[in-house]
Amino acid sequence: MTFPIERHRRLRRTAALRSMVRETILHPDEFIYPIFVTFGTNVKTEIASMPGVFQYSLDRLEEEIKDVIDAGIRSVLLFGIPEHKDAVGTSAFESEGIVQQATRAIKKMAPDMLVVADTCLCEFTDHGHCGLIHHDPVTGVADVDNDSSLEVLVRTAISQAEAGADIIAPSNMMDGFVAAIRAGLDEAGYSHIPIMSYSVKYASAFYGPFREAAQSAPQFGDRKTYQMDPANVREALREADSDVTEGADMLMVKPALAYMDVIKTLKDNFDLPVVAYNVSGEYSMVKAAAASGWIDERKIVMESLLGMKRAGADIIITYHAKDAARWLKEET
Ligand code: PBG
Ligand code: ZN
Repeated sequence: MTFPIERHRRLRRTAALRSMVRETILHPDEFIYPIFVTFGTNVKTEIASMPGVFQYSLDRLEEEIKDVIDAGIRSVLLFGIPEHKDAVGTSAFESEGIVQQATRAIKKMAPDMLVVADTCLCEFTDHGHCGLIHHDPVTGVADVDNDSSLEVLVRTAISQAEAGADIIAPSNMMDGFVAAIRAGLDEAGYSHIPIMSYSVKYASAFYGPFREAAQSAPQFGDRKTYQMDPANVREALREADSDVTEGADMLMVKPALAYMDVIKTLKDNFDLPVVAYNVSGEYSMVKAAAASGWIDERKIVMESLLGMKRAGADIIITYHAKDAARWLKEET
């Protein structure tokens, strides 16, 4: 009988020992909580596929912000559902747009709350795409036109900064969007506002529930000519590389769970903060299984968030943020 030479279990013997050698620790300051703001009054509507997540009208937003603060979360990501949509997404960049109004309201209620504005057009265009539509003169095939979309996106980012957004987070996946938005912000006097770029955003089925929540599903086709092919990781390096060159301050990978290798790749190759977006479909799967009593929600959520951080995420955008922050408080 030979005995093991290496005894890994020595460091797992007690809770204090395990805690002492723990390599990865979650902290609520790293969480960003997404909020959906809608037009109208007295609206608080639960999103069917995302139990516990609601659309709020401006007059009810304070309830949510109070709960976010109570949970110990210091940062929110805003999405807006406008009253009117048109071909160019005009309501995305109006000074009285829904996101702009919500931003001002939150900064008034809670000046220390970090407000992150998602800069995209899909919630504001009647066709539901993230940019402006152009028809090929020969085939008539419709696609999103890159450079004309940039102009609208720059206006949107500036109007969000004007409203008081602390971070601009462009999610549109047009080429050159970071450079265009950086230049626009600088020119408008917002050189101090950072850009959290959705650098590596895949064309993913995991966004399904979000599109119900934000009413932003494309009305024709899909997003595959601008969002990335889930099969590719070397291309992720090229996307991130151009964002760094163009002046991004943080790099995002989205979704998270099926893309942990991409999070790790960005962490290993760049020195900017890496953001993981734990998206709607990932949330819905956990909530559905938990509601059926098939999994332990709390343990599954904490293990998943820990995995994202271990993979290299410095910041995690998640619909579980309030719960996770409260669970972390209970542990200490
Ligand atoms: C807008 C946007 C989307 C998400 C964040 N910003 C949807 C999309 O690209 O279709 C997805 C977020 C989620 O699923 O939680 N471009
Ligand atoms: Zn979009």
